[in-house]
Amino acid sequence: MKGLVLAGGYGTRLRPLTFTGNKHMIPVANQPILFYSLKQLARAGIRDVALVLGPLHETIQETVRDGSAFGLRVSYVHQGDPRGLAHAVLCAREFLGDDPFVMYLGDNLLQEGLERFVDLYQREHPSAVVGVTPVSQPSHYGIIELDGEAIVSIEEKPAHPRSNLALIGVYLFGPDIHPVVADLKPSRRGELEITEAIWKLVRSGHRVLPHPVRGWWKDTGRPEDLLEANELVLTTMPSEAFAHHGTVSREASLTGLVGIGQGTVIENDVEISGPVVIGAGAHIAAGSRIGPSTALGDGVVLHGAEVRRSIVLEGSHITGPVRIVDSLIGRNVEIRCGSQSPQDLRVTLGDAARVQL
Ligand code: DAU
Repeated sequence: MKGLVLAGGYGTRLRPLTFTGNKHMIPVANQPILFYSLKQLARAGIRDVALVLGPLHETIQETVRDGSAFGLRVSYVHQGDPRGLAHAVLCAREFLGDDPFVMYLGDNLLQEGLERFVDLYQREHPSAVVGVTPVSQPSHYGIIELDGEAIVSIEEKPAHPRSNLALIGVYLFGPDIHPVVADLKPSRRGELEITEAIWKLVRSGHRVLPHPVRGWWKDTGRPEDLLEANELVLTTMPSEAFAHHGTVSREASLTGLVGIGQGTVIENDVEISGPVVIGAGAHIAAGSRIGPSTALGDGVVLHGAEVRRSIVLEGSHITGPVRIVDSLIGRNVEIRCGSQSPQDLRVTLGDAARVQL
């Protein structure tokens, strides 16, 4: 079995915020989103993985390289302009051969691993297994309508959804998908839709098995999704993942699960309420308050600042008194608060932004 991870596309919803690099490299709980899918593929025993890259592929190939750090053999498929999820399958045709493959949308996060998907495929040998879960805004997703086990309809982002059961971005396909994909025409939005290919498999009598996923699932397309994903990952991460390095003052107060990277200094009169992860080489100066559900990247500096349910990327400096909540703050951002009384801030800031309060 092979793996196909999609990290193409323009990431248009995050692009205007000028995060340098590819949106799949934005960290959630201090790990690039993309790494979660790669690790789950490796854990499910899959070795050969192709990463589909689009026009904005900066940093992915340089970081993932040959995949050996993940226990994988990673190769790259350059899709060029994002012409749809099924187009990505078409581009990867040579790599995939006739092997079954897990297709994982690289901006999706799934709490459970891929083992149950793979087991189901190996037991039943259907043409496809599609991960499904109920959602509150069905018009944002591919939607599947079931009658018992039977699939009644599948539609991509329907204006009038016939169910609330979404196709999550994890699929398992056998070779039957290839002729269907090769025969697709662009949809109204100009893409080759994998949703349409799956529906065509069903219509032509192929077995497609819906697979209800356990635990949480998150599509991280928008900044608010990233914050929610960060919270979900942090609150469900095993306690061993919160390693304690760095230097923590005896007068700092740490409660709950807190991960601290190498060389990080936590001064006195700092309160951290886990779950929180702090990268390497950070400096948390007196008077700072962090957490819960907060991830601070490498080299972040806080001076008397409060940061709750937020992601702060590497190299950013925040000088209080300021209370930052539900915020996504890019790399090397500088926030300074000149006033004496604490200011409240709820922001999404791209890399290298400067804010003076
Ligand atoms: O997240 C689940 C949803 O993902 C499904 O419910 C939908 O049926 C499915 O179409 C997809 O919808 P999105 O609108 O979320 O797809 P998006 O365009 O955001 O692309 C998803 C990932 O695939 C993202 O990591 C970028 C990558 N991609 C996308 C396109 C269109 C590619 O690599 N190539 C592409 O051509």
